[in-house]
Parts: sequence; C-alpha cells; structure tokens
Amino acid sequence: NFCESFKISMKKEKYPIFFFFYLYYTSNINKRRSETSITEGRKKVMKRKLALLAMAGLLVVSTAACGSSGGDNGGSDKGGDKSTSDVANKDKPLVWFNRQPSNSSTGELDKNALNFNKDTYYVGFDANQGAELQGTMIKEYIEENIATIDKNGDGVIGYVLAIGDIGHNDSIARTRGVRKALGTDVEKDGAINSDPIGTNTDGSSKAVKDGSIEVGGKKYIIRELASQEMKNSSGATWDAATAGNAIGTWSSSFGDQIDVIASNNDGMGMSMFNAWSKDNQVPTFGYDANNDAVAAIAEGYGGTISQHADVQAYLTLRVLRNSLDGVDIDTGIGTADEAGNVLSEDVYRYSEEERSYYALNVAVTAENYKEFTDSTKVFEPVSNQLDEKEHAKKKVWLNIYNASDNFLSSTYQPLLQNYDDLLNLDVEYIGGDGQTESNITNRLGNPSQYDAFAINMVKTDNAASYTSLLNQ
Ligand code: BGC
Repeated sequence: NFCESFKISMKKEKYPIFFFFYLYYTSNINKRRSETSITEGRKKVMKRKLALLAMAGLLVVSTAACGSSGGDNGGSDKGGDKSTSDVANKDKPLVWFNRQPSNSSTGELDKNALNFNKDTYYVGFDANQGAELQGTMIKEYIEENIATIDKNGDGVIGYVLAIGDIGHNDSIARTRGVRKALGTDVEKDGAINSDPIGTNTDGSSKAVKDGSIEVGGKKYIIRELASQEMKNSSGATWDAATAGNAIGTWSSSFGDQIDVIASNNDGMGMSMFNAWSKDNQVPTFGYDANNDAVAAIAEGYGGTISQHADVQAYLTLRVLRNSLDGVDIDTGIGTADEAGNVLSEDVYRYSEEERSYYALNVAVTAENYKEFTDSTKVFEPVSNQLDEKEHAKKKVWLNIYNASDNFLSSTYQPLLQNYDDLLNLDVEYIGGDGQTESNITNRLGNPSQYDAFAINMVKTDNAASYTSLLNQ
C-alpha cells in the first residue's frame, strides 16, 4: 500500500535526497540558461520549477495523509501516559508467554490466538526436552544412590508426584517425563497418561504401572505411590501450600515408603522439602531453578531444571521491541543487533509454524548448581543496552497470571524488570489472582494507552478474553 511504502522510503531517508536534488537542480538552472535561448530557457525553467513544486506538495500531502508515527521509531513520543503511536489496538505487537494458547484438555495449539496479527508470538520453553531432562535426572539419581535410597528396604522405590495444573501443557509434559523415565507410564489416547492418581500404595492404579530398574545385578520396583493436582480451594493451581499439606497427609500414612519426591515445579517442591523431606532426607526434585531451590541443593534438595528464564524474559520483551521498531524479528535473537546482543542456538529454538520461541532447559544438580545461584541475573550475551535514540521508549502492558506464583514472581518478573530498561520499554506490570481471567482483563480497560501487550493467561483456553478487548 502507498502509505506503507511511503513511510518506508521516508524511514530510509529519501526525504533529504529529494531536498538535495531540488537544491542541486535549482543551482544548475542558471548555468543551463546560458546554453539555450532566453525564452526557450525560461519556459523550461518554469516547467522544472513547477514539477519540483508539485513534488514537494505531494510530499507534504502524503506526510499528512499517512501520519508520521506508525509504531516505528520514526514516531513522535508524545510522552505522558498515552501510547506513543496511533496504531489500532488489534494491530499492536502481542506476545503470549509462559502459558501457550491451547486447548487445556487436548493440548492442541490455539492457532487463531498465535496468529492474532502479524506481530504476535509466544515465548516459553521446550516442555518435552525439559520433561525428559527432569525424568532422566531423577532416574540417574536413583541409580547412583541405590545403596541408600530404598529407606525401608522393601525393594520398592516409591515416589510421590506433585502436579501443577492438569490443563497446562508444561505440567502435563513434566508428569509424562517423570513417568516415562521411571517406567511407570501407561498409554491413554495415544500419549502417556498424565492424570493424577490419588494414592496407589498397593500398585493397583490403572493410570500408572509399576516400573522396574536394575542396578548392580539387583532389580527394584519403582512405584508412583501418590499424585495430586496442587490446586487450592479457590482454584489457584501450582499451589505450593497445597503441596505442603499433601506431603503432610501422605507422609503420615505411608511416609516410610516414600523414597523420592518429584514435583512439577520448585514452588511446590520447596514447600514439600521444608515441610517434610529435608528433615527426613528424602531427595526432592523440582523445576524452574528458582534461587531458593538452587540454594537448597546444598541441603539435600535433589535437583531442578532451569528453563532458561533469563532467555525467555529477554525474548518476551525482545519480540515486542523488534515489532515496534519494524525490524526483522530475528534482530538481537539469532542475528546480532547493533549493541551486540545475540543468542546462540543452544539456548533456544524458534518454530515459525507455531509462531513460538522456546528456550532450552538445563539440569541443575549437586554437580553444577553453583553456576545457577542467581536466577534473576540477565543472560550475559543479551545484556547490552539499546540506544534510546534509535529505539524510542514505548509503553507495554504486561500481566503475570498469579502474583504469588513462585516462579513468575521470584524469577521471571525480576528478569523482565532488568530487561525492560535495557530495551527501553516502559512496562506496566499487572499481577493477577491466579484464579479468574477477569481479575486481569478488568485492568486492561484502555488498551489505547499502550504500544504493545505481553499476556500470561490464567487458563490457556482463554486467549479470546484478551484479543476481544484488543479488537474493540
Ligand atoms: C513454571 C511453574 C509456574 C507455571 C505458571 C511454569 O512454566 O515452571 O513454576 O507455576 O509456569 O504458569
């Protein structure tokens, strides 16, 4: 479209070229006069001047008609609490993060939400790769500590599992990863069953089976003794307090059978560790590599997985920055930007088809935990400040689905707050109650005040609650 190409040519500084051309041309007019007859020459001069005037007029009219901001760095920063662009809300950059728009029963991606507009992306991490790492980390721990792990010596290595949110892809993947590695997995509808089983101390559950492991010529049974979705009475999932209560209940009825604790995240894992497993020296494995969990490895916490939140938080804001600047989306990601920010392929992958960036995971155990003690530190390869002259301040609306979610509040948000300055983004952080979408959407009353949006839904099926507000 004309306006678009006009803005591009203006951005590429063709305007000054026109002007230069005009000066050059008029200065040459006198020289040329002497080469032609006076009347002929005058006519030509008049024609040229008229043509140049028309050109200048066209530029003025086009500038006015197309507007001068357009959401790129040519935009004028009007300051105050108003967005710096006049782009329609439905066309503003949008990033979903941590909770991928998807069907919470089938896991199928919500392609409409992921393709809301041309500047829409998801940022998360590779759930399957991480889940496999978590399962393998637990299995290897059991093998290496086989001499001491079976506390009551019954030949059965019993574990309990804390499930975060039965409708969350990441939680489902972790449950499957643990069951697969420990051989307790059962198939359901073509995939590993990820349902909670309640209690299964006798091994009779149909949703899991007894696995087995052979170490040093001796065979052991591995049994999932119990698992439960850690949801509190008001509906908040991944609930740490609920997990602390659950281990209380489980340990008081079959504590001597629990040899290992697996948790879908560190928030719940640490709650179980502090409530029971630390004192009883039962290795507990979580996910997220939050500061407190990494520190607890020195005190017997079994291990955790870093989902590279430092890379995810960067990507969350970087895709918005790039879209706002109107530059290639790979800038400062796979391709170094002018400040030298770039990510290497071993820390993330991008799926164009899913419009999704996925950070890659790393296991954090007694062997390497000292490298992970500060989870809120920016990732060094992408820690360079962008120049505000080239990347004008823009306003971003960002929500965290649950202000008391352990991982999001103690790791992810502090990281976002470090990167927003580096990327010249003025981010407004909204914390939800973890239970109702409207608690958050109510606070997106005036989307026109912002240049871009970063959304962390309560429930992965609910993308439309947000996009309908942007479509208005
Ligand atoms: C984290 C959990 C967190 C959840 C929230 C997951 O990626 O591992 O700790 O509770 O996101 O959506």
